[in-house]
Amino acid sequence: MLRRVLGERGLFLFTFGLITLTLLGATAWVVTFVWQRVRVDNLLRVDNALSAIYVNYYNSADNYVSADSYLAMAAYQRDYVRPQNVRVLTGLDTQGVIGYMLNHISAGMGVNCTHCHTLANFAADMWDDPVGVANKRLAREHLLMVRDLNQEWIATLASLTDRRRPSGAQVTCATCHNGVPVPQSYPANQEGVPDDFRLPLGEDVVFSVEQQGILNVNARRDISLDTVQYNQNVMYHMNQSLGVGCTHCHNSRYFPSYEVPAKYYSLHMLQMSQFLVSNYSDALRGQQPSCNLCHQGAAIPPGAARSADVMPAALVAND
Ligand code: HEC
Ligand code: HEC
Ligand code: HEC
Ligand code: HEC
Repeated sequence: MLRRVLGERGLFLFTFGLITLTLLGATAWVVTFVWQRVRVDNLLRVDNALSAIYVNYYNSADNYVSADSYLAMAAYQRDYVRPQNVRVLTGLDTQGVIGYMLNHISAGMGVNCTHCHTLANFAADMWDDPVGVANKRLAREHLLMVRDLNQEWIATLASLTDRRRPSGAQVTCATCHNGVPVPQSYPANQEGVPDDFRLPLGEDVVFSVEQQGILNVNARRDISLDTVQYNQNVMYHMNQSLGVGCTHCHNSRYFPSYEVPAKYYSLHMLQMSQFLVSNYSDALRGQQPSCNLCHQGAAIPPGAARSADVMPAALVAND
């Protein structure tokens, strides 16, 4: 029918035109699609600017900080170029302190400034909200805790073995808080181990490469089945917390040996957790640290800061 109207040549041109149009349309669609994707990617990159700070944690202070707070901080920064009452975050000007408050504290814990401050005066340690006052006091202790963890424990990872360098990631608020004000170190229901399982972190417990401690069970006659079971629970806890298998830390043909760097790191992390129990139990309101508190199923904790460069100098080791 078309052939009769258009003729042989006309039909050819018609079909040719149709195909060309379809192809052009498809090309235009692909170009638009790609262009939009790129644009969305760019927007996401702006949105997730915090990933420049964190290993694998995305959050923005804008989700929590109110317009009132933004106005108050701008006014405070204008009136006080230097902070009035900063005892841990020394060496920063007010702008630097506010940047830390936004990116590490509000975005790390998922809270507005008023969780710890009266907007009338960011320097105040006493005002008419007892909860806010208590939160600011506790936050200062957690600042000291972060400083101690980085300076005394994370910084010494590099000296444990020369077979591997640590990544340089640092502890910051988000490392434990992960966007919530009150993190839970042990979940109510633990997988694969009894729900009341806790790491052995008493002051008298020995963790040492040379000395046999509570977790050493091989080739020992003085060890009960319960102790062997307990060792297994600790190992399962480590597997799950770091999202790794046994060989991440062990030569599976001889478990007692120290060969794999991660085993040195893990022993050090057990000592670090013991340090937290001894020195910061009150600050943690009695919660005991677990490997999962920071690791959350990953070998490098997702809420860790990428490097000392994105941390205030007062909270990291300076060489
Ligand atoms: C979890 C508690 C907490 C939250 C939330 C918090 N801060 Fe702070 N802020 C503190 C602590 C603690 C200090 C004192 C730090 C020190 O002593 O080194 C402080 C100090 C400050 C200072 C320095 C004041 C001075 O002159 O002494 C400013 C400014 C400030 N915060 C602004 C903010 C802003 C803006 C927000 C919200 C984006 C915020 N803070 C959120 C706990 C908090
Ligand atoms: C080693 C893990 C760890 C780190 C690092 C950490 N915190 Fe905490 N923080 C906790 C735990 C656990 C709790 C909950 C304690 C409880 O059971 O009430 C908590 C609670 C708090 C609270 C009380 C919140 C509320 O609403 O009751 C404040 C304030 C706080 N942390 C501030 C900070 C700040 C600021 C930083 C970073 C400078 C920080 N924390 C880093 C583990 C940590
Ligand atoms: C994240 C690192 C890590 C993972 C994963 C891990 N372990 Fe361990 N394991 C250690 C550390 C550290 C010690 C030594 C503790 C000490 O010396 O007090 C240890 C000790 C042991 C011991 C006792 C060795 C001895 O000298 O008696 C055995 C057995 C063991 N692990 C088996 C396992 C098994 C099986 C798995 C997998 C289910 C596993 N481990 C997963 C770090 C790990
Ligand atoms: C207060 C937070 C915190 C706690 C609690 C913690 N870790 Fe870590 N861990 C870190 C940080 C931060 C790093 C990254 C250090 C680096 O890469 O420079 C790390 C790194 C490691 C590594 C090296 C990562 C790798 O690639 O193998 C191992 C192994 C490890 N931790 C084991 C443990 C074990 C086992 C526990 C529990 C006994 C534990 N950690 C508890 C913060 C923590």
